[in-house]
Amino acid sequence: MGSGKGYGKTILFGEHFVVYGLPAIASALGSYTIANVKVVLGKGWTVDDQRPATPGYKKKKYNEALQSITNIIEHLKVDIESQKLEITFSGDLIAASGVGASAAQCTSLARALNDSFKLDLDDEKINEAAYEGEKAYHGTPSGIDNTASTYGGLIWFVKNLSGEKNTMDLLQSPKKMLLVIANSGITASTTEVVADVRRLKEENPKKFDKIFSKYKNLAEEAKKALLDGDILVIGNLMNQNHKLLQEITVSGGINDKLVNLALKNGAIGAKMTGTGRGGLVIALAENEEIQEKIAKAIEKEGYDAWRTMIG
Ligand code: MEV
Repeated sequence: MGSGKGYGKTILFGEHFVVYGLPAIASALGSYTIANVKVVLGKGWTVDDQRPATPGYKKKKYNEALQSITNIIEHLKVDIESQKLEITFSGDLIAASGVGASAAQCTSLARALNDSFKLDLDDEKINEAAYEGEKAYHGTPSGIDNTASTYGGLIWFVKNLSGEKNTMDLLQSPKKMLLVIANSGITASTTEVVADVRRLKEENPKKFDKIFSKYKNLAEEAKKALLDGDILVIGNLMNQNHKLLQEITVSGGINDKLVNLALKNGAIGAKMTGTGRGGLVIALAENEEIQEKIAKAIEKEGYDAWRTMIG
């Protein structure tokens, strides 16, 4: 039996923009998915997905999950003709749109196969295998989710559009950040939303150029603010990033509603995170009291709110 872990993630700045080679900042979460692989007689593989999940998530992502497992097994050239793999997923990460659930699943499986078959893969190779799995979920993934899931910590990520190595720098912030993660409960298709943004960008190149250039400056400012531990600036930049995400149409009404609710209850900044059009919203709180106030207000409206600390 082999096993492996993959962490969830939250994107602080730059979802969608990152697909086009602009920098993004993400943090791994403390919650993770665990994959276990048991090798038995037979051939092929089976999967038992025991992860806690937002209702509807697993059904919506079912075919993508099967394809991603196939991609990883093929990429790692694991023999499934003369043996059978019984794969189980579990862990405390709640599978939902926006939390890097697919990346955590892919990373955990790559690590579990590495463990089962003593493949001697380093993190770079694990990350490459997880990226192959992510292709089933994202179409054209930037790679930020699997990178955050594999390496952990707070990362500055830039996709290399020529297919060479991506840039990944670990950022050390002097300040821990208290977040509330609000779950809209709506599962979005990353492939569809990313494709939609690409179509809109092709239709309105000038509009997108302007937005991209605003975002690029914002990302640089965000990096500096994180390195300085200036959470007031970080919050303000999160609000600005959310507006740009609205402009590229990926923030749905439910995301805006949760962002406004968080701001009304004292968040320094709030934005949608991940794919958008549902999924999650993150809100930055100055202290635990405000974090609790925001979380309670979200729960009162009937949504799940997770309290976490990053940085
Ligand atoms: C999804 O978590 C993040 C997106 O930017 C897609 C990607 O980076 O592959 C929407």
